[in-house]
Amino acid sequence: MSLELSAPAQSEPACADDGVWLECIECGEQFAPFDEIHYTCADCDGLLEVRYADPPTFEEFEGRGVWRYNAALPFEEGVTLPEGDTPLHEAPRLREDIGVDSLRVKHEGMNPTGAFKDRGMTVGVAVAKELGVGRLACASTGNTSAALAAYGARGGMETLVLLPKGKVAAGKIAQASLHGARILEVDGNFDSCLDIVQELAALGEVYLLNSLNPFRLEGQKTIGFEILEKHYEDYGEYPDRIVLPVGNAGNTAALYKAFRELVASGALEESEVPTLTGVQAEGAAPMVEAVQNGRDEVRRWDDVETRATAIRIGNPVNAPKALPGIYNTGGTAVAVSDDQITAAQRQLAEEGIGVEPASAASVAGLRKLRESGEISADESVVCLTTGHLLKDPDAAFEAGGDPEPVPNDTDAVLEHINDGSTGSRSALETTVSRVSNAVKSSLLPAVAGGLAAYLGYRKLRRKND
Ligand code: F0G
Repeated sequence: MSLELSAPAQSEPACADDGVWLECIECGEQFAPFDEIHYTCADCDGLLEVRYADPPTFEEFEGRGVWRYNAALPFEEGVTLPEGDTPLHEAPRLREDIGVDSLRVKHEGMNPTGAFKDRGMTVGVAVAKELGVGRLACASTGNTSAALAAYGARGGMETLVLLPKGKVAAGKIAQASLHGARILEVDGNFDSCLDIVQELAALGEVYLLNSLNPFRLEGQKTIGFEILEKHYEDYGEYPDRIVLPVGNAGNTAALYKAFRELVASGALEESEVPTLTGVQAEGAAPMVEAVQNGRDEVRRWDDVETRATAIRIGNPVNAPKALPGIYNTGGTAVAVSDDQITAAQRQLAEEGIGVEPASAASVAGLRKLRESGEISADESVVCLTTGHLLKDPDAAFEAGGDPEPVPNDTDAVLEHINDGSTGSRSALETTVSRVSNAVKSSLLPAVAGGLAAYLGYRKLRRKND
């Protein structure tokens, strides 16, 4: 099974364990899955994929959450909190405003630690236990560290996380800290943290649980299964397109793998596979650069910056798996500005969907591609929102309204809220403008009645004071 969408199921090699093995996507070398630790190919250093002799069909899926899909996973069950089974929200105003046939928002922020990483960790920590390793570790822009800390704690294992100093949102560090991870703040960006943790893993000091570890992506594949199943249940068809934020490109690779496996089993037609569309922040867009130049390789960006700190990544390690996913599904990649990300974060919030900035990149990207005409009005689209609003409270405060100080007094609070403005407009000014507006409309009796009642109430209050 190559990375082609049409690749057929493979026969089981001698090294397989119960129909499961690891295979290099570059040279095809195959490895036993649980005898030794492999992150990349021992021969050529290419990325590894978990392969199965029996690709899954929809009929085999039963139960809820990630482990509903154990027919497509290396184990029956893992270290679970439990995870998955996240909502596929409708967003009617946003759909209308952006102008697509249907729009659903797959909110991965509703996982136990508030991000999709839990899907990867429930599998990854189970593999760590199978391998009998000691210390678990990852580099992280925040969410991976929170998930590793929680799942490591659940599995009773020691965890170590390397974070870029000053560039991780408060909620994420708080989680890693409380769940008991040892937190190392590196004076560098995410990519340097990953370089270091890979070296520690090569020395045998830690077991690496970044998405370079092929088992992480197995869990994340289940996002794709859930989207397909729910969309089909609601509309009788699969979505035309899935738009997702891209950092290390793990999810892009994982969704593509989910689709390939369903095509290999005959459960899904090639023509039914959704188009994968990646979105990056303008200040950290090496994948977009590669796709726009039709390249098969990504050039590492050494300087990256964006308000969406979760995707502040210059070297997407899963690009060799993700780029074929974009190209072979007829997809594309687009970069959006931080202001476009914040605007999308607000628009999602107006629909009651609270996400962190990186997540909103998917919606910002959809809008941009719709405006440029690259996405047409008749498409059914799913946007992936990857992390919860509370992950990054500072960004939420910046995007949202400011609290208004009020005196400790009901009368004054009433006066303040009826003022209708958050600035220096007096209640009298507001009332005058409301009355004059109402005179122009048929609302006058209602406003006059309201005003009389309000003045009567004020008088009563004064008497009682
Ligand atoms: N969205 C959020 C909220 C993320 O935390 C990440 C990655 C991504 C999107 C990008 O996903 O790597 O699969 O393309 N966060 C990692 C971390 C890097 O350390 O938490 P990807």
